[in-house]
Amino acid sequence: MKGQKSVYVCSECDWQSPKWLGRCPQCGNWNTFTEETFAWKKGNSAASSDAASRVRSEKAVLFREMESSDCRRFGTGIGEFDRVLGGGLVAGSVILLAGHPGIGKSTLLMQLCGAVGDSLDIMYVSGEESKGQLALRAERLGVSPEGLYVLTDTSVENIISEYEKCSPDVIIIDSIQTLTSERASSSAGSVTQVRECSAEIMEKAKTDGVSVILVGHVNKEGGIAGPKVLEHMVDAVLYFEGERTQSHRIIRAVKNRYGSTNEIGVFEMTDTGLREVSNPSEMLLAGRPDGVSGSCAVCALEGTRPIVAEIQALVVPSAYPSPRRTADGLDYNRMCLLLAVIEKRLGIRLSSCDVYLNVVGGLQIDEPAVDAAVALAIISSVKDIPVPKNLIVMGEIGLSGEFRAVSSADRRAKEAYRLGFTKIALPARGDDVGRIKINGAEIIPLNSIYNELLLLDTQSKNKEN
Ligand code: TYD
Ligand code: MG
Repeated sequence: MKGQKSVYVCSECDWQSPKWLGRCPQCGNWNTFTEETFAWKKGNSAASSDAASRVRSEKAVLFREMESSDCRRFGTGIGEFDRVLGGGLVAGSVILLAGHPGIGKSTLLMQLCGAVGDSLDIMYVSGEESKGQLALRAERLGVSPEGLYVLTDTSVENIISEYEKCSPDVIIIDSIQTLTSERASSSAGSVTQVRECSAEIMEKAKTDGVSVILVGHVNKEGGIAGPKVLEHMVDAVLYFEGERTQSHRIIRAVKNRYGSTNEIGVFEMTDTGLREVSNPSEMLLAGRPDGVSGSCAVCALEGTRPIVAEIQALVVPSAYPSPRRTADGLDYNRMCLLLAVIEKRLGIRLSSCDVYLNVVGGLQIDEPAVDAAVALAIISSVKDIPVPKNLIVMGEIGLSGEFRAVSSADRRAKEAYRLGFTKIALPARGDDVGRIKINGAEIIPLNSIYNELLLLDTQSKNKEN
């Protein structure tokens, strides 16, 4: 058609090419090009002049005259969500909330409307559900916010004109992949549409100081569907994760311009919506088996909060020439390193064994302090000797099998004791290990990986025999 132009766009880096390419010359990814058509109609020249008008005449200001109070924060009424955001939603910020379908994104946002909808004006744009469905969900969650406007539309132009009429404090877009802009003629969810729609909404929000929450779909690899630039444009990227078959859900920030990315928020999906879990350790330890080998507890620090989790290992002789190894919730390369250290320093042969590792409850732990627990779970599984139930181990393991100090050892130890662990093994090297005194708990210093062998519950093994 006259006035239409086809262009191939890389979904990873936005590189554009007039021909289809198998491999992107910019980012090197394969099979990322999708065809997009641009309509070069009059509207488009208007769009470019519009883009020019976007350049506002900002003045340079002196840094020391700037005020950090330009960042106005307000609590969302959902403590665990605030924790991930870094203390609340910042006015004028744009947040991208991504997650698999059915994980509870819309539920969380409707609960957020319920929690702050009486004091703030919120506009909830749903491109996926009808007003009836939204009303049913709100009823199920028991919320009926005063200042909530609902719009079930997918046209950005209409959304913006409605937004100007309601002038809300917060705008929720559920989801960005369903919106379409007249500026691009490709179908909803395509790279160009997602980029155009989010740019238009963000531009409006930034000028007016309105907070925007964009819901994003994830693709089958677990990344956010749409252009990579979307993640660069927004202020915070949050992932809503969890096993669909289990009831707990975790929100994690992978980018946050207004707070730390270490904090996680934990929820439980119930019949009446998401319930905050402020003590996740109890939930994660529930149902921990007794007297079974290959399970070891650890206290990981997620941001400022110590969380006790269970590491499970299963080591079995491999039927294949190259053994299988999987690590769920842990770093795969770190596991390989620990396997090598155990093999070399303790002389336990693992190179012909399949090793399966898992953090119970879908938690993702990426701090080295879990090394000790991972190694102990592996050794326990190989030897088929259970780790005592009241024992918890923490520490980073170096290549020569030595233990290295962990940060905030005392806070971890106290949390472990609160949950009933009375034997707390910590690296001897840590500054404060000698100083940690907990009445009723035994602090066991660890020097090297050899010490771990002594921790196993040999008596229980003997009893069984
Ligand atoms: P939803 O928020 O629609 O997911 P998303 O927007 O991420 O796709 O949540 C859907 C799931 O949550 C659905 O399987 C039903 C379940 N759910 C509950 O268990 N309890 C509730 O109170 C609600 C509203 C939903
Ligand atoms: Mg939804």
